[in-house]
Amino acid sequence: MKITMTSRFKRYSALLIGIHRVKEWFFFIQRNFDAPYPTFIKRKTLTSHSEPNSAWIETGTYMGSMSLFLAKRFPKIITIEPSKFYFDFSQSRLKRFENVEIIFGSSEENFEQALLGEKNVVNIWLDGHFSEGGTFLGQSVSPIIHELDVIGAHKNKFNTICVFVDDVRLFQRYELQQTEYPPFVFLLDWASQNGFCWEIQNDIFIAKYRS
Ligand SMILES: C[S@@+](CC[C@H](N)C(=O)[O-])C[C@H]1O[C@@H](n2cnc3c(N)ncnc32)[C@H](O)[C@@H]1O
Repeated sequence: MKITMTSRFKRYSALLIGIHRVKEWFFFIQRNFDAPYPTFIKRKTLTSHSEPNSAWIETGTYMGSMSLFLAKRFPKIITIEPSKFYFDFSQSRLKRFENVEIIFGSSEENFEQALLGEKNVVNIWLDGHFSEGGTFLGQSVSPIIHELDVIGAHKNKFNTICVFVDDVRLFQRYELQQTEYPPFVFLLDWASQNGFCWEIQNDIFIAKYRS
């Protein structure tokens, strides 16, 4: 059978992703089931707390794994990635999904416009941040302050907004904690000022707004 470049690429990426998944579980068990949680658990958290049959906006596409998972379950996915390498990788991996739009550029440049393109109900996965391995590093490690400001400014345009912020353990809880994320209370203040209910599940800060 003729092996094309496309099928080689598919096999190679499936192999890389498979190795990554095995490593995730290995280290999770080694950490005594402490965060960060494996992809499988994050996916469950997103599907069980989001609004069904609604669009998603994701910041930080990376290898497109969450977009691919969501694309099979939700009608529309917009995902933003500033690393050319991961943008190209995801474009190729997700090209068969007509309900996925990948935007090249940072969240700071593109998130507001993506949000303004939606109406009524939207799910938002805020996961764009520097994470080594050729991922994008902008002015700050994470654009989270900008993203939450944008959501707060436009919340009245929506009936329901579900926001998911990944890696909440990295938000500074005490002064000596070495982290490049904002203080944890920033999330709480933002939620309370903008009328969002919140909870934390599996290292994900989940904030919901209903008008
Ligand atoms: C942890 S990975 C995202 C994983 C992906 N969301 C998933 O669930 O499969 C973080 C990604 O965010 C991207 N990133 C870094 N800074 C960003 C920014 N300012 N705006 C948007 N994405 C950013 C990185 O290049 C990287 O690909």
